[in-house]
Amino acid sequence: MPEVHYETQDGIAVITVENPPVNALGQAVRAGLAEAFDRFAADGAAQVAVLMGAGRLFLGGADITEFGKAPLAPSLPDVIAGIEASPKPVLAAIHGAALGGGLEVALGCHWRIAAPGTRLGLPEVSLGILPGAGGTQRTPRLIGLEAAGRMIASGKPIRAEEAVESGLIDRLAGGDLRAAALAFAAELKGEAPRRTRDLPAPQGDLSDLRAATAAKTPGQIAPVTALDAVMASTRLPFDDGIAEERRLFRHLLDTPQRAGLIHAFFTDRAVAKVPGLDAAPRAIDHVGVVGGGTMGAGIATACLLAGLRVTLVERNAEGLDRARATIDGNLDTAVQRGKLTADKRAGLAPAFATEMDALAEADIAIEAVFEAMDVKREVFATLDRVCKPGAVLATNTSYLDVNEIAVATDRPADVVGLHFFSPAHVMKLLEVVVTDATAPDVTATGFALAKRLGKIAVRAGVCDGFIGNRILSAYRAAADRMVLDGASPYAIDAAIRDFGFPMGPYQVSDLAGLDIGFMTRERLKAEGAPQGRRATFADALYHAGRLGRKTGKGYYNYTADKRGAEDPEVERIVAESRTGPARALDADEITRRYMAAMVNEAARVVAEGIAARPLDVDAVLLHGYGFPRWKGGPMHWADAQGLDTILADIERFAAEEPDFWQPAPLLRDLAREGGAFADLNRKDTA
Ligand code: 3HC
Ligand code: NAI
Repeated sequence: MPEVHYETQDGIAVITVENPPVNALGQAVRAGLAEAFDRFAADGAAQVAVLMGAGRLFLGGADITEFGKAPLAPSLPDVIAGIEASPKPVLAAIHGAALGGGLEVALGCHWRIAAPGTRLGLPEVSLGILPGAGGTQRTPRLIGLEAAGRMIASGKPIRAEEAVESGLIDRLAGGDLRAAALAFAAELKGEAPRRTRDLPAPQGDLSDLRAATAAKTPGQIAPVTALDAVMASTRLPFDDGIAEERRLFRHLLDTPQRAGLIHAFFTDRAVAKVPGLDAAPRAIDHVGVVGGGTMGAGIATACLLAGLRVTLVERNAEGLDRARATIDGNLDTAVQRGKLTADKRAGLAPAFATEMDALAEADIAIEAVFEAMDVKREVFATLDRVCKPGAVLATNTSYLDVNEIAVATDRPADVVGLHFFSPAHVMKLLEVVVTDATAPDVTATGFALAKRLGKIAVRAGVCDGFIGNRILSAYRAAADRMVLDGASPYAIDAAIRDFGFPMGPYQVSDLAGLDIGFMTRERLKAEGAPQGRRATFADALYHAGRLGRKTGKGYYNYTADKRGAEDPEVERIVAESRTGPARALDADEITRRYMAAMVNEAARVVAEGIAARPLDVDAVLLHGYGFPRWKGGPMHWADAQGLDTILADIERFAAEEPDFWQPAPLLRDLAREGGAFADLNRKDTA
């Protein structure tokens, strides 16, 4: 049960919020705070109050699980107004983090002291809302309009060291926070409360920041709305500014973007809780990486950045030189971007080897060699021979059958897929691909490693492309069909960007290289997989040497414009590849087809157990494929549209091309029952 404790010591009331794990400000905490401050007001023995958080941080903000439900009194703004109105001084003593409503509580206190390293932030925009408990009015009064605007529009926390310079907090605590706070509070006895609301209204204008924010967060409502609320502080008296903040906050609370972002927040945490998996992970300290190309070098970098010991094996000295250069480049960039200090960087390097024996002591070996089954099987047979018992043997294959790779060893229970995304030291997603034989503690080790690397791991079953690439293949095929039918690749890219993806599918092809898609089509053909209508225009571009960015031309021409210019030559090649008359597809129709293909395949992936729950699909698309976070992921988005709408679209498309557009049974059944994918999340996580 959440508790707010009250004790007095030497004329100082110490009020402590204890609501594990993050001291969220749910109704019980708000009521407890109001009661504690009433008690303080009436407590003749206490002249000053110190407000603290128990556990690992001060206050983690409003209780997000209450959003979208009926509001419960007392409201957070009222509780904060009560604290600020206290006739006796109140000091906030902050450690760990003060976020969102948590920082707003601190701003309602009269003074603030923080432990070094504490993070202070107003991350509300990342949840599709704005600081709704005075943050947009008090922050600019304390630190100025521009600094407050930047903090609120970005949602990024700052450290206490920086906060003390800007005036957000008054002091850094040396040593023990409680002792430092009690000493500070003793100095405050008899002082008149210093209320943020009474500071002069800030001056200035945020139109430049607003324009820059709108450009940086296209399609999103919260960041610019938050700045509108901050601007209100310049023209309205405090109480009217608070009312305006409340009005805008309520408006955002009701938006689908808020629902999408909060779904994404909980999804990020829920994916780590794999239904039925409770094994303890194996210990990982030393990581072996086999293959130092694009992925191997990226994986090695990610492991080094996480403080792991790394041994990288390549075929020969040339391969090692290339890998070394890539890793050095990655680490140098990390230093330039402030993610790593030059000092720490100096100590980071893998051990390099051309013999697999170097992996004898590795706790895990991650293979990232060429995407060919015979090469993979040979590498795994060798790993089986050289690696110590209990080592995890992982493959980074994108599409190949991990069951088949596993049986190249005599220890298939130790084999797992760890599918990283490029660039592997940057991209957050890791698919943990579990075979029929993978031992539970090996799966758990994949998740533990992901956590160590700061990544989001999602469990996936074995199939062609696992969760992400399999769904990608389906919506890419829908896009290619639209091109064959008459849409320009540029119109498709534009429609998909408007939906909120950072890039359209043909821009992505140019980035990845058109040879990848070509090779996949050839492989599927060789495997006798059903082909359907082939993207002949993509083949033609491949044969014309237009492989994308790396050759200066693909769907776009990069020779004159680095960002890629549309090219009439491509329009010509595309037109020639069409077998029938071109028909017009507008942006709405393009988006409907693209999204219907994505959701339909995702429903199959869930029904087959490749993804354990719909939310696992959402996490994969959000973190690996650029799905707009404020739409929550494809399954959440589909629920929001109504599954009957999506089914009706698919049935309409199926009337034209039934072999491609078969409704997935799960989608059809849910749509007919009036159900939603979210129902399956709840069932499986209960
Ligand atoms: N409300 C409800 N639950 C929360 C929560 C919150 N504000 N913050 C975290 N939780 C839950 C998580 O869902 C998770 O639950 P689980 O164990 O069941 O999965 C648990 O607390 C632990 O969270 P993390 O795994 O994220 O713990 P970390 O230690 O890694 O991180 C944190 C702690 C930095 C506080 C991180 O949880 C976080 O960023 N939380 C959200 C902070 C935030 O956005 N606050 C603003 C809320 S909006 C607001 O305040 C509106 C106001 O302006 C009116
Ligand atoms: P790459 O061609 O850049 O690198 C492969 C490296 O493996 C080469 O440097 C090669 O010398 C080395 N190698 C080959 N056989 C070896 C052996 N027996 N021992 C040691 N080293 C050997 O390929 P890339 O892109 O890094 O892909 C590697 C794997 O990762 C593939 O399975 C691929 O499908 C997968 N993958 C690729 C992604 C990408 O975006 N490039 C994304 C996710 C997975």
